[in-house]
Amino acid sequence: MNLKQVTLEKTAYLPDQLILTGPAQIAFAGRSNVGKSSLLNKLFNRKNLAKVSQTPGKTRSINFFRVDPRLYLVDLPGYGYAKVAGHERKRWGDLLELYFQQTETLKGLVHLIDSRHDPTSLDRQLHEWTSPLLENHLYVLTKVDKISTNKRKQTEQRLMKEFGLRQEQVVLFSTELGDGKQKILKWIFDLIE
Ligand code: GTP
Ligand code: MG
Repeated sequence: MNLKQVTLEKTAYLPDQLILTGPAQIAFAGRSNVGKSSLLNKLFNRKNLAKVSQTPGKTRSINFFRVDPRLYLVDLPGYGYAKVAGHERKRWGDLLELYFQQTETLKGLVHLIDSRHDPTSLDRQLHEWTSPLLENHLYVLTKVDKISTNKRKQTEQRLMKEFGLRQEQVVLFSTELGDGKQKILKWIFDLIE
């Protein structure tokens, strides 16, 4: 698989813009500002192909990145950003729900959680809702450069206990340190091989 050839193939704001068939998809979800777009750029080795911002709520559409003929990596809009207007939040929620329910080619979900905070109720909801829908889940604790090595281990253990995960389902990640990138790539490759 050649991640250097990646292109942004489609940006979906509306249900009829979703890509529901074709190559396999792996989606990246998590609360706003957790680092989804940054993680994708790190995988792609590109600076800002997926738009990154310090202001939460940057990604407002579902973005389909075509990696090669076999695969899309999909950047989902973040949830839980309070300042987004009610009707806009409902539009995102409805679009995400449709996406999860209708994308038969969705092979796996990467759920990102900020390593500095406990999972929020929205993280729990996403976990509970998608667990029965999808077989393959990877949990990525982001921004681990901002916490101590001791705290990383504790946070990892807590998450495994709380969500009932196996060790190989959890990755500690940092765009600054480069931690976790190879594990995530391996998980993706194993899924589509
Ligand atoms: P939305 O599109 O709003 O849902 O956010 P997102 O999840 O795509 O987050 P994004 O990638 O835009 O990153 C949010 C902020 O966190 C940016 O300022 C990033 O530079 C920062 N950030 C992301 N990952 C890391 C990391 O591993 N370490 C540090 N220190 N900062 C990070
Ligand atoms: Mg984003």
